[in-house]
Amino acid sequence: MLPHKIIEQRLQQAVGAVLPDADLANVLVRPCPDPKFGDYQTNALMALAKARKLNPRQLAADVVAKLDVADSCQPVEVAGAGFLNFRLKPEALVQTLQSAARGEHLFFEPVLRPRTVVVDFSSPNVAKPMHVGHIRSTILGDSLARTLRLLGHRVITDNHLGDWGTQFGMLLVGWKTLLAAASLQADPLAEMERLYQTVSAQCDPEKPAFNQAMLDRARSELVKLQAGDPENLAIWREMIALSRAQFDTIYRRLGVKFDHTLGESFYHPRLQPLVQELRAKGIARESEGAMAVFFEDLPQLKEQPALIQKSDGAFNYTTTDLATLAHRLETWHPDEIIYVTDARQQLHFQQLFAVFRQWHPEAGVKLAHVWFGSILGEDGKPFKTRSGDTVKLSDLLDEAEERAFEVVSAKSPELPEPARREIARIVGLGAVKYADLLPNRQSDYIFSWDKLLALNGNTAPYLQYAYARIRSIFRKGNVGQRVSPVPSPQSPTTNHQSSAPLHLAAPEELALARRLLNFGLVLEAVADDYRPNFLCNYLYDLAGCFTAFYENCPVLKSEARQRASRLVLCDLTARVLKQGLDVLGIETLEQM
Ligand code: ARG
Repeated sequence: MLPHKIIEQRLQQAVGAVLPDADLANVLVRPCPDPKFGDYQTNALMALAKARKLNPRQLAADVVAKLDVADSCQPVEVAGAGFLNFRLKPEALVQTLQSAARGEHLFFEPVLRPRTVVVDFSSPNVAKPMHVGHIRSTILGDSLARTLRLLGHRVITDNHLGDWGTQFGMLLVGWKTLLAAASLQADPLAEMERLYQTVSAQCDPEKPAFNQAMLDRARSELVKLQAGDPENLAIWREMIALSRAQFDTIYRRLGVKFDHTLGESFYHPRLQPLVQELRAKGIARESEGAMAVFFEDLPQLKEQPALIQKSDGAFNYTTTDLATLAHRLETWHPDEIIYVTDARQQLHFQQLFAVFRQWHPEAGVKLAHVWFGSILGEDGKPFKTRSGDTVKLSDLLDEAEERAFEVVSAKSPELPEPARREIARIVGLGAVKYADLLPNRQSDYIFSWDKLLALNGNTAPYLQYAYARIRSIFRKGNVGQRVSPVPSPQSPTTNHQSSAPLHLAAPEELALARRLLNFGLVLEAVADDYRPNFLCNYLYDLAGCFTAFYENCPVLKSEARQRASRLVLCDLTARVLKQGLDVLGIETLEQM
């Protein structure tokens, strides 16, 4: 068992001995924010003391009295308002690194109690190109799913496509009256978007192009579609197929996979009975001709009832999401469902979760809306193309690869073009993904090509370069293949070569070793708080510690025992960098 897990277990036992009624699930160990004070820390005792009106420092002292971690830690310190700081003994540090070098773990272990987690992410809308807003959901959602999976949870990813709704009335009119076959062939999403925009401008009474006959026609096409008219259904299916083909091209390019793609239309047959059930149970009631759920007991939603059926009988986004939730619970029995969308949908999810709690008060499932801010241009306004259009994801990825190609060609003109293209692909896509993952997800961020492609700074190219540089040490030293393939939770690693004895003496060696040990804790923090930025910052810090080590501690030129020991540190760093980037959905290169 890894030291932080042993410490956590013993800490929970000690807390249980002092406070037999305490909920130990929240008694966790985290990396110490400042390595000066220790390797690990817990702040759990302060919350426990507060809830019981105890003196937190006294509680901390009582827990320490019952806590036995002397085999792996130096004496535990009570700090500040009641933190406990733990510092590993050097022997424990060396042992853990050694077992990692033998391939027994990579500083993380599968969780003891795996959870079933549904991750709902990406979820673009049919007949519309994916834009930069969907990129953040796709990239964040993918890295959360990867992290949870790596930690041993059972993850189910579901792409909740927007493939049903009033827009299809307009799209059908456009398809029947304005379709340009050649444009549809060349770029189906662009053509469908053109149809939608042309017709919707004519269906909007506020716009100069408004045309009542057009609006009536769109409505009647929608009614026909909903009634199962074969012609309209066939067109609708074709629109979905064309859209999905283009989405899939982007997902392949990004290396993103979904276990399921159940669009909104899948839930259509459930909507009417659902509204009836909510009404029969007294959860929904009629209000101004529509059907709504009120939240008298929730101050923040008191003025914001959720509409589940409009006065014209139509169901909406909330109705569909309720049916989706019911389906997921019946089918997968998840412990947790995570929805990754932009900040503008916060009210929607608050309402959804609140209706669900009235509907199924017994359900223990945890529901989380993982929301994120917008991507801004360098002028601080919403990110747009020069002509003022929304930026399409595929264009953005093309540009990333093109710009990375220029950088690579300037740096390594001697490489043949196909090799430079492949490096540019990995660096360009990695840079875009990392730019999305690095900022705190709840803040807006400014998209800057120069910043995200920089080779020094907290960027993907920097980390990819750090990895490739370590690999070049092994090539130069002719030490052979060491980094093992990215491990799966079932078989942590299979590298049995790095079992040279370790000697950690230089402060830079110790600092690097301590950072390596934190990898698992950081992965757990990412999974608990849904924040891949923790991992980005950890990897950047790790790469910095490696640089300090490499500048101060000769590796290939040192004498045999030290050289072997330092090569182990190099190898473990490379493995953590590779695994960490993999969890972010970013590929690495052996040579750059
Ligand atoms: N299709 C929606 C959009 O593009 C996102 C759907 C998110 N998932 C959900 N279950 N509501 O805004």
